[in-house]
Amino acid sequence: MITFAAMAARAPMGAGSASRLHHRIRPQRIRNTTLDDELDPVAYYERRYNIAIEDERPHRRRRKPAPGHQAEVNALAEPTPLEAGLPMTYAPSRFERPWLEGALRGFFDRELIADVLGMVKGGKEACVYRCVSAGPIAEPLVAAKVYRPRQFRNLRNDSAYLEGRAPLTLSGKPLTERDQREMRAIAGRTRFGETLRHTSWLMYEFTAMQTLYAAGADVPQPHAAEANAILMAFVGDDRSAAPTLNSVRLGPREAEALFERVLQNIEIMLEHGMIHGDLSAYNILYWQGALQIIDLPQVTLLETNRRSHAILARDVQRICDYFARQGVDCDAETITDVFWRRYGQDEAWAASDFDLTRLAGG
Ligand SMILES: Nc1ncnc2c1ncn2[C@@H]1O[C@H](COP(=O)(O)OP(=O)(O)O)[C@@H](O)[C@H]1O
Ligand SMILES: [Mg+2]
Repeated sequence: MITFAAMAARAPMGAGSASRLHHRIRPQRIRNTTLDDELDPVAYYERRYNIAIEDERPHRRRRKPAPGHQAEVNALAEPTPLEAGLPMTYAPSRFERPWLEGALRGFFDRELIADVLGMVKGGKEACVYRCVSAGPIAEPLVAAKVYRPRQFRNLRNDSAYLEGRAPLTLSGKPLTERDQREMRAIAGRTRFGETLRHTSWLMYEFTAMQTLYAAGADVPQPHAAEANAILMAFVGDDRSAAPTLNSVRLGPREAEALFERVLQNIEIMLEHGMIHGDLSAYNILYWQGALQIIDLPQVTLLETNRRSHAILARDVQRICDYFARQGVDCDAETITDVFWRRYGQDEAWAASDFDLTRLAGG
């Protein structure tokens, strides 16, 4: 199996390297960090130095745009009436339109959706749209998760999750030794290589949802994937989308039952060799007393990632943080231990270079 980590090891580190910032900041040399910082040194850097890093280019002084220019920019960002293009009730801004149409065209062409009604939410990495389904999809509404163009996405150090993951193609198949051109492009971080990485990131989310949905986990049913978007069951109704669990206050009985259910879902993932990797009340939807777990592109492979234990421990800790606030008596360390004894990999445990005591309260 060819993994990103193996490719990165072969990658030239010269001036063309796309992630200069990540190379400069060595997570293991930072003192007093949390696991979040280790996984996302850019966020750590931002937090520590109280700055907002918008992209990877060296800082240039930005001139304040002249008022006339600003008015022009604002006008361009205003929603425009329906122009020639896809038939959408939703009126995207001019900047959003080409990106959105490019991402959703395939679903229209395949007659999986007939309309886009509105944006549900713009997340850190993607925007989710409520769409009218068509063709073979039984429910009237579907959600399209459209990944932001790379340059507008939050930088995040995904290497901790990528370890042990073979890049997936749009067909959902892993690249092999035979795919030399693709491997070179990924290793060299060419534009083509970055597109392949992006596709793989998205396809891990889609294929994980397929596996988990088939296994009976509480994830929205995945319907289709295109190069820049995933189509899945919409959680909510024609008036509103489901809130994320962090904004919901549960009664004590309900909290107990839902906590159990989340643990069952973590166990289903472990049975299939996966750890969510970004599990928290922010990535769980609550609708009519039930939960749906979302946002899986960083899904971690239990057997091949040396940080499996630390990542699992963080997921469990965050879940316990939320449910403890709802009155559930839970001990994240004990739960993680039980899971690890059942599903953990001894070698991964031994190879983990993590100081687990740092995870307390993380
Ligand atoms: N299937 C869905 N049905 C309804 N709303 C959804 C669905 N999937 C995502 N959302 C909404 O979109 C937001 C962003 O989606 P998410 O997958 O978490 O992406 P991000 O990586 O940007 O956080 C979620 O917080 C949720 O409010
Ligand atoms: Mg999210």
